[in-house]
Amino acid sequence: MPAALSLHNLCVSVGRRMVVENLNAIVEPGERVALLGASGSGKSVTSGVIMGSLPPHFSVTGRLTVAGVGIDPALPAARRPAGIAAVHQDSATALNPLVSVGRQLRVPLRQSGFSRPGARQEAARLLAAVGMDDPVRILSAYAGELSGGQVQRVCIALALACRSRLLVADEPTTAQDTVSQALVLRALTAYSGTGAALLFITHDVAVAASLCHRVLVMQDGHVVESGAMDQVLGRPHHPYTQALVRIATGPAA
Ligand SMILES: Nc1ncnc2c1ncn2[C@@H]1O[C@H](COP(=O)(O)OP(=O)(O)OP(=O)(O)O)[C@@H](O)[C@H]1O
Ligand SMILES: [Mg+2]
Repeated sequence: MPAALSLHNLCVSVGRRMVVENLNAIVEPGERVALLGASGSGKSVTSGVIMGSLPPHFSVTGRLTVAGVGIDPALPAARRPAGIAAVHQDSATALNPLVSVGRQLRVPLRQSGFSRPGARQEAARLLAAVGMDDPVRILSAYAGELSGGQVQRVCIALALACRSRLLVADEPTTAQDTVSQALVLRALTAYSGTGAALLFITHDVAVAASLCHRVLVMQDGHVVESGAMDQVLGRPHHPYTQALVRIATGPAA
């Protein structure tokens, strides 16, 4: 089976400034891989290349392959084949404010073969799975009636509803309390248990460690260390990874 996602020698620049340099990554079906790094290290730019959502002033070179199919990384999302679901870092603008949550969730579910009542039931199940206390009420709500954390969870439910074989989730739990975060991580684990691949973008070592099999550590546009999560966190080699692990495991102030 081909890799769900493969990035080969990916380089991204803005004007003369290189923001991602020679990034190589593979995510296999059913695998959960963390892209871990500080703010500004190039995580969202990398996810933007995979999703085709970078603004036109970025230039991109390198090879992007999704489920064995090569995609020109410079192509915008609208001109690419479907097959990737995404949770964008800025979830505030990801929902249509004029369409109810339920209707937005039903679109991908109907496309994947659910009947009308089946889609409604599955939409409520997905909302409950990501920690919505009252999924039936949320189905008829509009984005403007929800809190930031609720919007983020609806976006995760929407991504799961797409049933893609690859999900790229950029900081999907930053607006969540610890209980909601645990539920979201559980829903993502269950989703990858169906054979879907997950690229999970985060700056949180503990969250990455609790969810992912492998990790790529980014600093200043470079992957400075990668490998099995246990190995990288248990015996970090790069000074940046060592510092991350020290801070994450050090005594609370
Ligand atoms: N629209 C843009 N135009 C120009 N430069 C940008 C743009 N978006 C990001 N950059 C630059 O690209 C670099 C990588 O940014 P990126 O958004 O990928 O960081 P990140 O790792 O996702 O950080 P964070 O954890 O804060 O989300 C940064 O130096 C940033 O200044
Ligand atoms: Mg980001």
